[in-house]
Amino acid sequence: MDEIKRNKEKIFQLIEEIYKYKSLHFIPGETPVTTGIALVDHREINAVIQSLLDGWLGLSVKGKEFEQKFSAYLNTSCTVFVNSGSSANLLSLEGIKKYTGISSGEIITPALTFPATFNPIVQLGFTPALVDVDKTLNIIPENIISAINDKTKGIFLTHMMGNPVRIDEICEIANKHNLFIIEDACGALGSKYLGRYCGTFGLASTFSFYPAHGITTGEGGAVCTEYKELDLIIRKLRDWGRDCTCTEGILGISGKCGNRFNYQIENIDYDHRYVFSQIGYNMKPLELQASMGIIQIERLNQFNEKRKRNFALYKDKLAEFSDHIELPQISDKADPVFFGLPIIIKDKSIIRKDLMLFLNNKKIATRVLFAGNILKQPAYLKVKCSVYGNLDYTDKLMRDCFWIGVHPGITEEMIQYVVSSFREYFNDRA
Ligand SMILES: Cc1ncc(COP(=O)(O)O)c(C=O)c1O
Repeated sequence: MDEIKRNKEKIFQLIEEIYKYKSLHFIPGETPVTTGIALVDHREINAVIQSLLDGWLGLSVKGKEFEQKFSAYLNTSCTVFVNSGSSANLLSLEGIKKYTGISSGEIITPALTFPATFNPIVQLGFTPALVDVDKTLNIIPENIISAINDKTKGIFLTHMMGNPVRIDEICEIANKHNLFIIEDACGALGSKYLGRYCGTFGLASTFSFYPAHGITTGEGGAVCTEYKELDLIIRKLRDWGRDCTCTEGILGISGKCGNRFNYQIENIDYDHRYVFSQIGYNMKPLELQASMGIIQIERLNQFNEKRKRNFALYKDKLAEFSDHIELPQISDKADPVFFGLPIIIKDKSIIRKDLMLFLNNKKIATRVLFAGNILKQPAYLKVKCSVYGNLDYTDKLMRDCFWIGVHPGITEEMIQYVVSSFREYFNDRA
């Protein structure tokens, strides 16, 4: 036993050594300035190794601990840990479908979106009702009001790039018209509106833990809700539709609840772990991902301070180019933690592709704003949907917006380099 313990300690120390000597040296033009990275060090790696050595890879006690810590951070009641933000979106809408009994109708959502937000609406038999966004990159209450009719059942919104939507006004509209809200907060972990975290306003909300996001578990996501009954439905859907939701003591004879063998199906005594009360999926993450997530939550406030600092530095320094580019507007009531830095080209003579290629050649990574106007994407040309009003600003963003990284791995030195690269680009054109 002592030998095992000693060897473990040796491994943990060696991993720590590796991270001590990992080079953080930035060489302008050589070191990539990325849009997102997995910010993990010996703390996460050792937690994962510990999990592997524990020998039980399936979601268990660490999963439960992660869910509790995530709920505590957000100050929400329930968190279901899942294998991606996309799964979280699908499970949240399917859960709400079962919870409310609403199985068809229109769901209002922004046309500027990521497929993972849009797809569940179509996949689960609803009709997307698309509206335009404004200079915050977000859906706005005025457009929601103009899209509401007697077919409308809900609103699936996104806090785009971490910039909070005007959620107080949208909640009021939803209450008045008896609509449910799902908040896709996949890129908005830590963003606040009126002092309250994004992801705590809707009937359900979703998060992604893919590396570019607030925290990472490799792949991963979560659905949060205040409603225990909805949480249970989503949990069952995640686990094949299994009725039993015991997460601890599952190796024990009777399960955590002690009732594992007190079930019957049509007078046949049956193991509760094989009673299926939903037609579900397997969207479970691994226990080692939960172990990584627990450490990441401990570091989240520090990560978010850095993201905010990076955004503020860019905002200040890029103001020099305000004739050419602008950043998104932010509501007075919002306190965003940006997922990336969206840059909108104002100057009609600037071609986005040209600027993006220039930056990419300087090893500064760029991305377009997800799918842009999703209706223009090849897979969606024939999708059945309703459109309310024009989608002019969505189209503008599809043409003229891109984003760069503000994640915690971006240093002041990198920001100086990126700003000087913009200067070079604009000066060369003058
Ligand atoms: C707004 C939004 N929703 C959902 C997702 C999907 O998350 P995942 O990659 O974890 O499936 C993403 C991914 O970037 C996203 O940006």
